[in-house]
Amino acid sequence: MEFTTILFQKEGNYVLVTLNRPDKLNALNFQLFTELNEAIKLIELDREIKAVILTGAGEKAFAAGADIKELHDSDDITGVHFSQYGSKVMLRLENLRKPVIAAVNGFALGGGCELAMSCHIRFASENAKFGQPEVNLGIIPGYGATQRLPRLVGRAKALELILSGNMIDAYEAEKIGLVNKVFPQNELIPKTIEFVQNILSKGTLAVSTALDCVLASDFMPLIEGLEYESRMFGKLCGTYDFKEGTKAFLEKRKPNFRGE
Ligand code: COA
Repeated sequence: MEFTTILFQKEGNYVLVTLNRPDKLNALNFQLFTELNEAIKLIELDREIKAVILTGAGEKAFAAGADIKELHDSDDITGVHFSQYGSKVMLRLENLRKPVIAAVNGFALGGGCELAMSCHIRFASENAKFGQPEVNLGIIPGYGATQRLPRLVGRAKALELILSGNMIDAYEAEKIGLVNKVFPQNELIPKTIEFVQNILSKGTLAVSTALDCVLASDFMPLIEGLEYESRMFGKLCGTYDFKEGTKAFLEKRKPNFRGE
């Protein structure tokens, strides 16, 4: 598939995916979701790709939400599909066992904020703005904010944002836990790459297994989650990387991980 609404740049062992409709503030239309879905498939299938950075083209927006022009044509039947389609792509992104970091470079509104929330970690530029403005359009969030936002920031803050439609700036988003870190705009991508490269210098099996266990906690009661963690811990104790990591520590040198 030829991409026209996203950019897919493989940089060694990570990929930079850029939402690329800057004249529409990277609004998420059907074509963009289809391409993002295809990009996720490429990421899943490519063993060389160990991490993902997701950002928006231009200096103004990460994504200003679902494409309102397309949304306007929805009715009570097609609206369900509209919501499910984007939601499934975002769930698939979240379910990647490779770290996905959102580099939020401007507006992250509605579906843009929801897309950022379906990434595992969020960094933002100082000019970023977050919000769920759907009530201004007579609807509710349709790509997961009613579910993910309370889990991230607590019910009261989530409701404050969802019921008011108000925007918050990057520092407020950092304060409530919606964003991990805020950087000046020109440092956002370099700092995100630096962070990704630090992760990739670790045992990549350990990284993906840790991610797997944390994601699995959504579906398990604590007692099962603890058991799952122990089994995964044991599995990793049987790997080359574990022997190498512990040996390197004891020999006071840097480990040479192989991802095996
Ligand atoms: N869907 C479709 N097009 C969008 C869009 C969206 N969600 N958000 C912005 N655009 C388009 C605008 O229509 C405009 O296109 P045009 O130049 O062809 O008229 C272009 O992007 C630039 O947006 P504009 O509104 O002129 O920029 P601004 O700086 O004045 O305002 C926002 C920025 C983000 C405050 C404003 O665009 C906005 O409120 N967008 C909608 C946010 C929203 O409600 N998202 C939830 C959707 S469910």
